[in-house]
This record gives sequence, C-alpha cells and structure tokens, in this order.
Amino acid sequence: MSSTNLLIRHAQILLPNGDFLSGDVLIRDRQIAQVAPGIRPPEDATDFTEIDASGLTLLPGVIDPQVHFREPGLEHKEDLFTASCACARGGVTSFLEMPNTRPLTTNQQALDDKLQRAKQKCLVNYGFFIGATGDNTPDLLAVNPTPGIKIFMGSMHGQLLVDKEAALEKIFAQGDRLIAVHAEDQARINQRRQEFAGIKDPAIHSQIQDVTAALNATQLALKLSKKYQRRLHILHMSTGDEAELLRQDKPSWVTAEVTPQHLLLNTDAYAQIGTLAQMNPPLRSPHDNEVLWQALLDGVIDFIATDHAPHTLEEKAQEYPNTPSGMPGVETSLALMLTQAMQGRCTVAQVSHWMSTAVAKAYRIPNKGAIAAGYDADLVLVDLNTYHPVLREELQTKCRWSPFEGWELTGWAVTTIVGGQIAYNKGKLDTNVKGEALRFDARQ
Ligand code: DOR
Repeated sequence: MSSTNLLIRHAQILLPNGDFLSGDVLIRDRQIAQVAPGIRPPEDATDFTEIDASGLTLLPGVIDPQVHFREPGLEHKEDLFTASCACARGGVTSFLEMPNTRPLTTNQQALDDKLQRAKQKCLVNYGFFIGATGDNTPDLLAVNPTPGIKIFMGSMHGQLLVDKEAALEKIFAQGDRLIAVHAEDQARINQRRQEFAGIKDPAIHSQIQDVTAALNATQLALKLSKKYQRRLHILHMSTGDEAELLRQDKPSWVTAEVTPQHLLLNTDAYAQIGTLAQMNPPLRSPHDNEVLWQALLDGVIDFIATDHAPHTLEEKAQEYPNTPSGMPGVETSLALMLTQAMQGRCTVAQVSHWMSTAVAKAYRIPNKGAIAAGYDADLVLVDLNTYHPVLREELQTKCRWSPFEGWELTGWAVTTIVGGQIAYNKGKLDTNVKGEALRFDARQ
C-alpha cells in the first residue's frame, strides 16, 4: 500500500464554513491530522510524502450517490475496477451503487458478494443499495451495511419493478431505513409506448417517458412518505414540475438529487448525439434545466449524483427503442460542475457541498465530506485555471464514451486521495490503492 502519511503544501483549501485557506494539510494514518498554514512534517516522521499544491484547490473527495457499475453479471459494459479507476480520475472518492446487476442485489448474500469484490478491486470507497422486489421485505430490513432501499417505481422490468401502490405501501409501512425511488409511472409509460410505437427517432423517448410520468410517481412517493413519515430520497429528479412540487411541500425527512445531465443537457442533445442522449428519466426541455438549477441553488434539491450508467457503443448503436438507456458520468461530473462555478452560475463551495458534504449528511456517512482534523483523508486537488476538453481516449470507463465529449472544462482532478493514499496523480492511476466499505451510521 502507498504511504498514508502525506503533507499537502500551499493549497487553496476549502474549509467547512465555505471559506478558503491558503495553507497545508497534514494526513496521518488515513485521516486529516491538521489544517493550517506553514505545517512542518512531524519530527518522528519516517515515511512521508509531500505534495506541492501551489496553484491548486483542495476539496473534499466527491461522493457519488447513484451509480451503476455492472458487476456482477454485466461486465462487458463496466466492472468495479474500471469504474473505480474512472472515479479516481474524476475526483470521486466514494460511490453508492445500484442493485440492477446480475444477480440482483436483493439479499445479504448478493450484498456480501459485491462487498467482497469491491474490497479486492476498488480504488475508492464503496457502498451498495439493496433492491426492493415487492416480496423481500425481511431482507430490506435486515441487510447491512447499505445506504438504503432502492425502488424502481418505473423504467425497469422483471423483479426490481415495484409499480403498484399496494406493494409500494407495504415497503413504506415497515421499518425506517432510507427509501430511494426512481420515480416514473410505469402504467403511463406502457400506455405511451403503445401510442408512439414504431417511431425510431430517439427524441420520442422524452415524450414516451414524459413529464407527467415523472410527476405522477414523485407525487405517489411523497404521499406514502408523508403517510408513514418515512425517510425518502428522490433520485435523479428531471422535471421542473417535480422541483416546484417539492418547493411547495417538502417534509424535513425528504431529500432529492439531480444529475449534471439534467442540468446541462436537454432534448436538443438527441439531434447531436442521438441515442447516447437516451437515459431514464429522460432529458427534458431547456426550461426544465433552468427550474432544476434554481431548485438546486435554493436548497429544494439537496445534492448531485451522476447515475453513471454505461452501455457499450455497439449497444447504443442499435435502433431506438432497442437501445439501452443510460450514460456514464463519474469522470466528468466534478469538472462539469466546477466549470459552471467558474463561469459564475454557482460557487465552488456550493459545488463541493452538493457533491460531497450534503451527500455524507443525507446518507449518514461518518467522517466524510469536509476538510477538518479527524475527518477521513478523502480529498481531491483540482486545477481551476486550465481548460481541457473531454477526450474519448482519456476516459477510464470501460464503455469509453461520454455525452460531453469535446466540452472544454476546467476544475479537472489533478490528484485524488483516498484514505490518505494517492489513487490518481496527473494522469496516472495507482491500482494498488484500495478503498474501504462505507458506513451509514453517523449520528445526526
Ligand atoms: O438511464 C438509466 N439507466 N436509468 C436507470 O435508472 C438505469 C440505468 C441503467 O442501469 O442502465
């Protein structure tokens, strides 16, 4: 294992209060020991690495709370090793992964299998959702460790689809674990698929899985959450209407997230990148982009996830509707959002809050999401002065494409540190670095 004793010098350090400090960070035994200007290496130090961070900005490592990393069972698209390399390159030091693998992650055995695989392969820290099937309530309540229960209310087929109100209510009524919903109304999608059958233009995807399908499901999830005061998280909110609904009526135990795609891309993307723009919930209008941005800025939406959902270019080259939905994201999310900050849309401190601090809080992940003594040394040094395009040949994700190819971005990760280990530095990965299983038991 690489040294976990580090001294980062001359960085612009983002402090928990949102201010920046020009100074140093001392890391010992995987944790932040000191944050101050002019730190000297300890006298007893034998194994210390110094990093000169002049001109760079130090942020807490990104925690991406919704990814699909495809292992086990779909490794032709991605696997835990390649995905975690992409994370390290993107400044993502922890991820929460979804249960639609093969086998599905619906019981302790499948969860343990993923944890075991991740322990051997992942350069970054990891956690795995448990999937609701409609008849696995005892598993949903008993498994550990997990950030929560994932329910696909729509946009899914087979065992992981739970689309009937009675079945949903049974899950909401038992236990108190966080429920994260993919909110789309499957009955409406089915009906509109028939109405629009035969249309091969992928732009129709946003019409079939329309704004009403998303709004119906979010309304139902909110209703059930209020009835049982059940901790609810709304995944990848895509429409202005859902944001306005939450603005009017958001119980304190409800959180919501948005993806960079739903903020920065819209239905115009189909004309440019065709089926690469196809995802669930689908891209919406420029007006939806604006309303989602405002909701994020106002705190109606709590944080950002990528919904990294890689498919191969061959799969995406089929004809709609045979093409799979989803796009990769972990490698570009931080730079995309920091570019927005540098262009004045928000602040760097807000980006870090949405991509790290707020996620740690919502999922009760202890010791992460801040640069302060005693916190885990999961950090990313970014360069906010240089612009560099998204290039296919530099991507680490196994699918090797991005909907943002050619976009000129700033704020790229220069160095990514996981538990005090340098996982990525100036274009080079250290594949000996290993992350750890996340815990979800922080005291509020
Ligand atoms: O577009 C999507 N693709 N949305 C999802 O929720 C699932 C994902 C996938 O697994 O491909």
